[in-house]
Amino acid sequence: MNPTETTAWKSLSEHRREMESVHMRDLFARDPERFKRFSISFADTLFDYSKNRITEETLRLLFDLADEMDLPGWIERMFAGGKINVTEHRAVLHTALRNLPENPVYVDGENVMPRIEAVLAKMRDFTRSLHRGDLRGFSGQAVTDVVNIGIGGSDLGPHMVTEALKPYHRRGIRIHFVSNVDATHLMEILRRIRPETTLFIVASKTFTTQETLTNARSARRWLVEFSGSEDAVTRHFAAVSANPEAVWKFGIDPHNRFDIWDWVGGRYSLWSAIGLPIACAVGMEAFEELLAGAHEVDEHFRGTPFDRNIPVIMAMLGIWYRNFFGAPTHAILPYTEYLHLFPAYLQQLDMESNGKSIDRDGNRITGYQTGPVIWGKPGTNGQHAFYQLIHQGTQPVPADFILTLDPQNPDGDHHRILTAHFLAQTEALLKGRNVPEALHRAFDGNRPTNSILIDRLTPRSLGRLIALYEHKIFVQGIVWNINSFDQWGVELGKQLAGTILEELRSDTPLSGHDGSTTGLIDHIRRKK
Ligand code: F6P
Repeated sequence: MNPTETTAWKSLSEHRREMESVHMRDLFARDPERFKRFSISFADTLFDYSKNRITEETLRLLFDLADEMDLPGWIERMFAGGKINVTEHRAVLHTALRNLPENPVYVDGENVMPRIEAVLAKMRDFTRSLHRGDLRGFSGQAVTDVVNIGIGGSDLGPHMVTEALKPYHRRGIRIHFVSNVDATHLMEILRRIRPETTLFIVASKTFTTQETLTNARSARRWLVEFSGSEDAVTRHFAAVSANPEAVWKFGIDPHNRFDIWDWVGGRYSLWSAIGLPIACAVGMEAFEELLAGAHEVDEHFRGTPFDRNIPVIMAMLGIWYRNFFGAPTHAILPYTEYLHLFPAYLQQLDMESNGKSIDRDGNRITGYQTGPVIWGKPGTNGQHAFYQLIHQGTQPVPADFILTLDPQNPDGDHHRILTAHFLAQTEALLKGRNVPEALHRAFDGNRPTNSILIDRLTPRSLGRLIALYEHKIFVQGIVWNINSFDQWGVELGKQLAGTILEELRSDTPLSGHDGSTTGLIDHIRRKK
């Protein structure tokens, strides 16, 4: 179904014209209840969406659009294990990973909950041994450093969460993340650790990802050189993968493999054993708190009417700006340093999910846009870098401002200053400033923002925050009629890189490339 053919889409196009001349300043002036009307409290999170270019009518039409695209039906299909990832014939069940064990979820007639519980139990044993100092390397010394080797979803999620939960880290264990195939990434970490006390987790769902396997082989070589024996690999390597044969071939003890399944998408996998480095950092109890927070949001998403449903509202506001105001990007601006990787994590989550131009029925999409570019950085740093464009640029940039209220590092007036900036920015974007005598100093205002206020950044509240965005992305994918759960767009580059790698290794004449690529390869070969 093409969303532009719905009745709601047509009404929204008309409504957009009516809203052109409406300034949010006036909407607030007219309605003293606007903040109350357009904000929702959920657990320790306040979601304020009143600073948007919307009225009750806008929301009604947006919810009509979601209904016409059968959002309620799709939500149920996802949670029930329907194979909604149609191009890969897979269920989409990251929600099962944080489900209560007594609630069965079926894939091909099998309840997947016991498998999930078994992996959680294995993670519990493993992390308990690590934290007790019982995990020992080839020399008998206890493991002190864990290096996660993975990329994309096997890196960004666990890395972001591990950074965000630094105040919860267990003493005596340091966690490192290697993702880039640029050897610098690995080498800079190897310089800081000792082979005798290091555990490598090779995190790769497919166990075929070239970057990860290259890094893992180099790490193994480093270990074996120091230890003098291949035997050390058993004690120093674990894997998270759905590919047992490849793990075994690599030389990792099958007992040290943590399972993951095809119904867990890479970018949705931090809740699975891909989250093992998180559990190594903060302990299994805190990891399960993270799961519990996400589960709360799953329940909220599944059971709340659209007009009180935070992910649905976040998604439909995004659609309002992307499709009816032509906003090409969406900014994520966390005012808490611990969330500094959150924008980068959301980039993969959102852009790999919704950066699509073929619809769910296999047709090329024409007449509407799909996923925006996601970007951002923590405030206040961003204020001194790119906020100029958000305030005065020619394109609208809807933005999510995220603030935690209870600072983890209270010191003097820092947090009050941070909070003042947070509030000042969203107010300035809303109100603008009229300076008729000097237009360059004037601000139009009327620039939309959401404010997400979280009492304290805990494993549970972080679980909630991430799940809100996961479901937001799902809703947008449904409305745009795309499959948010495949990623065929990454394949061509991988294939070409394979051919080019062979050409870089040899001097054989080049063929089949465009002139630019041929010229560049020639240049690189001469320089080497
Ligand atoms: O190339 C993209 C991708 O397939 C992501 O979707 C995925 O998260 C990442 O690569 C890593 O994949 P794997 O866990 O199989 O190594």
